[in-house]
Amino acid sequence: MTSLFEGLRLGELALPNRVVMAPMTRARAGTDGLPTASTATHYARRATAGLIVSEGVQPSLVGQSNPNTPGLYNDAQVTAWRPVTSAVHTNGGRIFAQIMHGGRVGHPEVAGQRPVGPSAVALRGEVFAGADFGRLPAPVPRALSTKEVGGEVAVYADAARRAVSAGFDGVELHGANGYLIQQFLSSNANLRTDAYGGSVAGRIRFAVEAAEATADAVGAERVGIRLSPGGQVWDIVEDDVPDLYAALFDALAPLGLAYVHVLVTASDDVLMELRKRWPTAFIVNPGGQIGETVGDLAQGEHWLSRGADLVSYGRAYLGNPDLVERFRTGAPLRTVERDLWFQGGDSGYLD
Ligand SMILES: Cc1cc2nc3c(=O)[nH]c(=O)nc-3n(C[C@H](O)[C@H](O)[C@H](O)COP(=O)(O)O)c2cc1C
Repeated sequence: MTSLFEGLRLGELALPNRVVMAPMTRARAGTDGLPTASTATHYARRATAGLIVSEGVQPSLVGQSNPNTPGLYNDAQVTAWRPVTSAVHTNGGRIFAQIMHGGRVGHPEVAGQRPVGPSAVALRGEVFAGADFGRLPAPVPRALSTKEVGGEVAVYADAARRAVSAGFDGVELHGANGYLIQQFLSSNANLRTDAYGGSVAGRIRFAVEAAEATADAVGAERVGIRLSPGGQVWDIVEDDVPDLYAALFDALAPLGLAYVHVLVTASDDVLMELRKRWPTAFIVNPGGQIGETVGDLAQGEHWLSRGADLVSYGRAYLGNPDLVERFRTGAPLRTVERDLWFQGGDSGYLD
């Protein structure tokens, strides 16, 4: 049986093990979306992961979902990321940038402008608008025109170019957890009547075009995509989950992407069907929607035995930069309190 400690080839990269650090927003960027010296230390300490996927990085100002998150939409940000990627490489690691466009999950107090989305439909709930405002009702996004949708597709490709220029080994498109790509996939955030809405073929179009454009920009072997089939985070409803994701996988499969990264948000049957349809690496995040239990070694091995090639861990990586070694030796895992996840500063980040 395959073990988590066996290597794997991923695109051009030779991964020394099958443990992936899942993307985690930590809200510790400096002003103007610039990563800091602490960001470099944080990731460099986790370089023994087979692959690190960075926190969600906004590809444009309007795509910024949370306060104090880093960006990849200007030269200053590219320059500020270079010491981060180079620190990871110096420690022998590999890192992809997660490109996260928040779509309707945002607030004018965060991005300085009204969020955009497939349709002018607010999510039912509140979003975090920064320390001065706390949580506020989610605003109604501005619906993108058909022409503008093409512009948003290009935004992913541009951010990917910048990511590679900043030294990232590749990018992961954030198509999970209710952000822009999943808003297009959904049946309640996407009420469009043009080619990007309605039928399954319409609702998958944005995700497929974003993946195509990004693969054209930096090479398919440098591009992965994260998906949460049937996931309901941020008030998402998807009709026809098995059909929707089968069609999406079939459309993405010929692109030759490095990987797909799925959260366990659908039944095992649905996930196994998707596994069969996927030609390259299949990453599973057993934690799915942040349940009570944090992923462990046994869960990882379980998913490898069910056909996953790699397993990703989020919260287990918060307090255990040496997670791979802890799994290998059976050492206990430390936890980081929820209060420290997004609060800024080095506490709960570097200690
Ligand atoms: C603090 C924190 C921040 C997160 N930020 C992101 C993010 O930026 N992008 C993303 O795709 N998932 C994000 N997630 C979800 C994780 O990647 C992962 O799917 C989730 O924590 C469940 O896995 P786990 O049980 O291994 O923690 C975040 C989770 C946590 C705990």
